[in-house]
Amino acid sequence: MTQELWSAVDQYFAELLTPRDAALDAALAANREAGLPAIDVSPPQGKLLYLLARIQGARDILEIGTLGGYSTIWLARALTPGGRVITLEADPRHAETARANITRAGLEAVVDVRVGPAQETLPKLAAEGCGPFDVIFIDADKASTPDYFTWAR
Ligand SMILES: C[S@@+](CC[C@H](N)C(=O)[O-])C[C@H]1O[C@@H](n2cnc3c(N)ncnc32)[C@H](O)[C@@H]1O
Repeated sequence: MTQELWSAVDQYFAELLTPRDAALDAALAANREAGLPAIDVSPPQGKLLYLLARIQGARDILEIGTLGGYSTIWLARALTPGGRVITLEADPRHAETARANITRAGLEAVVDVRVGPAQETLPKLAAEGCGPFDVIFIDADKASTPDYFTWAR
């Protein structure tokens, strides 16, 4: 499948399944404004994350790779009452943008953005006794994905 065809199919599903959403649209606009790369999950991918977390009845979610918090917002909206998302981001500028987006979406009380390389933050989370997690979304530096996956297991 070419990139063009992939994008066209994704766009088709986005229009069909993901109506416009003020907080998510604002997050993408703020990311653009801040010069963040447009490498967020797409709307259908965000909705899939949401559905997976809902199906799981997720109370504790870990995300590795926050960027501007677009996928974080989808995940946080799926939490059961009393739940939280911990999301890890290496770049302080990305994390700052994400915090603003998450606050605008009204989710700051249930999202904990941790700044620093995940390789360093993950052992700290373990030391704090965080986890186990009901959902772990790995979406950071791809070379480290096997390490993150091992940690997640
Ligand atoms: C693909 S983007 C995440 C997109 C986000 N999940 C979304 O869909 O909205 C990857 C993010 O991982 C961050 N990142 C890269 N290496 C990292 C590391 N070692 N630890 C934590 N975050 C990292 C990047 O700065 C970038 O913001």
